[in-house]
Parts: sequence; structure tokens; C-alpha cells
Amino acid sequence: MTERTQVGIVGAGPAGLILSHLLHLEGIESVVLEVHTRKYIEERVRAGVLEQGTVELLTGMGVGDRLKREGLVHHGVEFRFRGQGHRIDFQDLVGRSITIYAQQEVVKDLVAARLATGGKIMFEAADVSVHDIDSKNPKIRYRGGEISCDFIAGCDGFHGVCRASIEKSLTIYERIYPFAWLGILAQAPPSSGELIYANHELGFALLSMRSPEISRLYIQCAPDEDIAHWPDARIWEQLHLRFATHDGQWKLTEGPVIQKNIAEMRSFVADPMQYGRLFLAGDAAHIVPPTGAKGLNLAATDARVLARALADFYTSGSTDVMDRYSEICLRRCWKVQHFSWWMTSMLHRIPGESVFDRQRQLAELDYVTGSRAASTALAEHYTGLPFTI
Ligand code: FAD
Ligand code: DHB
Repeated sequence: MTERTQVGIVGAGPAGLILSHLLHLEGIESVVLEVHTRKYIEERVRAGVLEQGTVELLTGMGVGDRLKREGLVHHGVEFRFRGQGHRIDFQDLVGRSITIYAQQEVVKDLVAARLATGGKIMFEAADVSVHDIDSKNPKIRYRGGEISCDFIAGCDGFHGVCRASIEKSLTIYERIYPFAWLGILAQAPPSSGELIYANHELGFALLSMRSPEISRLYIQCAPDEDIAHWPDARIWEQLHLRFATHDGQWKLTEGPVIQKNIAEMRSFVADPMQYGRLFLAGDAAHIVPPTGAKGLNLAATDARVLARALADFYTSGSTDVMDRYSEICLRRCWKVQHFSWWMTSMLHRIPGESVFDRQRQLAELDYVTGSRAASTALAEHYTGLPFTI
């Protein structure tokens, strides 16, 4: 069966769904092909921090109602090292904030909005491949059919097929870190009103949350760590140790662990992000280590640029933004790459580091949290750089 649409989108993650809905709002048709089931993508536990610009984007698209009701707005974040907490006040420094709202909730809201407005998402699309991308009529094939379109958006994440199909024309920049994150979701009220990034002798730890009842916690572990060696009691023991304050006053509330996973840490950029009529967006083009909480936000800004490029093309025939798509996205991407690498390097114990490196790292944390100029730079990045085209 051959079907026709204007933009064929591979992947129903944040990048693909935001793009599809923005195109709809511009009167442009799209079809989204997703390899997994709706239930799977709506339940997959991943990121949780939305930059202010991402919140504004979702709200402006008409998918911000539940986000506004259930999202937790945070005006600052804490860095904890040498047994002491240091707050960075985003509101005071840059007049901006972040919102805690789980990625799968963003995905649920976007899927509901697409389906309510007649959007087409093909779940469980198997054997997806892209063809004729250097022609004016590229095609997406899947088991049982074909979609003929004007443009293809490769929003299929890091392990998708789109980037792989143009691998030969790409330059790849990559860094793999010698540690990973073990993350848990726990049925326990968050022990702090704001996120805590802790640098401890035993390794990094992060306290985050999903709701007033659910905590999201991470600890640094070895990259080849076997999750079976981390029974809940061991995880809690490490969390208590890594968050402990010198005055002994701070308390971590425990609760049943409802989800547990290990995530590798990688920086990755594919350049350029376009070839012929195929445009890569989000994790399909780049990956950041999670320490800066940027992956989802970067995926959202790519989608925003691509929607603008396609809208300009369909309304006026202008290819200005389309021709510069990769340049626009990569410029932001590299700044975010730097921030994510910097946060990662500053907060983790680096295997093999010297005693000099360790003191330098602590001095950097001392400076960042003690200097208004340095805290402002961190706050500006963390709450999200301005969107520019
Ligand atoms: P994705 O969300 O990966 O979406 C891609 C979609 O394409 C998926 O639904 C996938 O099923 C689909 N797909 C893949 N291949 C095909 C195919 N062949 N055909 C059709 N569909 C296909 N970021 C943070 O900021 N903080 C975090 O704590 C954090 N935790 C993470 C934990 C994990 C385990 C992972 C994997 C990522 C995490 N990230 C985190 C990163 C963040 O989740 C991503 O940056 C974000 O999901 C990017 O969105 P995307 O739409 O580009 O890609
Ligand atoms: C969360 C994830 C991150 O990577 C981060 O830097 C902050 C918070 C989270 O899952 O809540």
C-alpha cells in the first residue's frame, strides 16, 4: 500500500511528535512511524527536566494544560560537596525557571494532541527504511507499505535507521565516559524541594523527583556495572552516604523502588544533520551525557527549527532556514555539548584522577557556587539558552 503525505516522520519521541504537531499547526500534513507500541512509548522512563523555553513551546502549541497543572516549577538547584549544600538561585540570577515533568508525560500529551486533531501515528511499524532522499520524492518503506513524501524527518533516536542511512556523508564526534548512572524511581516523597547534584568521594549522586510522592534518584556507577549487584539496600546506603551533610541534619526518605536502570554516558554529534531531503532531529543526530538535563530540550529545539524551515518552504518557497538547518541546530548543540560535558566533568569522580585533579574539581565547584558571575552562566545554560534561528 502506498500512501502520500507532505512530511514523513520516523520516530514518535519528543522530536518527532513536537515536529508533527507544529507542522499541523502550520497546516502541513505528516505521518509518524513508530516501531514500538503506544503503551511502550508512554511508559518509558527517561528525562524529567524541561527548560523554560521547552515549557513555553509546549504551552504555545496547546499541549501545556496538564504540564501547567502537574509540573513542578523550580527556581533553583543545589550543588552539594564537602558535605555542604550551595543553592544556585535561577530566578534571582537570570529570572528564569525549570519545570519537572516526566518525558513520558510529554509524550502522552503530544500523542493525545496529535490523535485528537486527526494526526496519523503508525505504531508498531516494522522494518522501517528510507529511500530516494536525494530526489524530490523520498520514500519511507515499512513492512506492508510505503509512504511517499516531500521531506523525511529522522527523529528515530540514537539507534534509529535514519542516521545510519547517511552515515557515509557524516563526520562523527564522540566521547564515551568511563562511568554510568544507576537510576531509580522510588515511592518516597522527595527529600528536598529542589534538585541536588552531589559530588562526593564515593561518586556523583543526583536527587530529583516526579511528583510530591515519587523520587527519582541517580548514583554514579561503573559503565559495565551489573544491575544484579545493586540490591535496593545497597543503592539506599550509597545515597545516604553521598548526600550526607557535615552537620548530620539532612535526611533522605526511603521508599519502595518501582523502577531501576543503568544509563551509559556519551557525547555524540553527527555533522551535518541533513542530507538531500532527509533531516535528522534530536537523539538521531546528537547525544549528551545526562548531567545537564539537556537531551529532551535539545530534541525540542531541533524540531522547532525544522518546523520553521518546512513552514517557510510551504508558505513562501523560501529555503533559507532549510538550507541552514544543520548550521542553526549544530551551533546550539555544541554549546549544549560543552555545558553537558562541563557539568559531567565537574560533578563525577573521574577514574584515575590525580589528587591535583580532585582539588581542582572542588575548587571549580567552590568558584561556580560562590561567584555570582559563574553562577549566572550556569543558571543561563541550565534554564535554557535563548532560541535563535
Ligand atoms: P527518542 O525519545 O529516542 O525517540 C525516538 C523514537 O524513535 C522512539 O520512540 C523509538 O522507539 C523510535 N524509533 C527508533 N528506531 C525506529 C525505527 N527504526 N523505526 C521507527 N521508529 C523508531 N535526557 C535528559 O535530559 N535527562 C535524563 O535523565 C535522561 N535520561 C535518559 C535515560 C535513557 C535510558 C535514555 C535512553 C535517554 C535519556 N535521556 C535523558 C535523553 C532523552 O530522553 C533524549 O534526549 C530524548 O528522548 C530525545 O528525544 P528524541 O525524540 O530525539 O528521541
Ligand atoms: C533528571 C535527569 C537528569 O539527567 C538531570 O540532570 C536532572 C534530573 C531527572 O530524571 O529528573
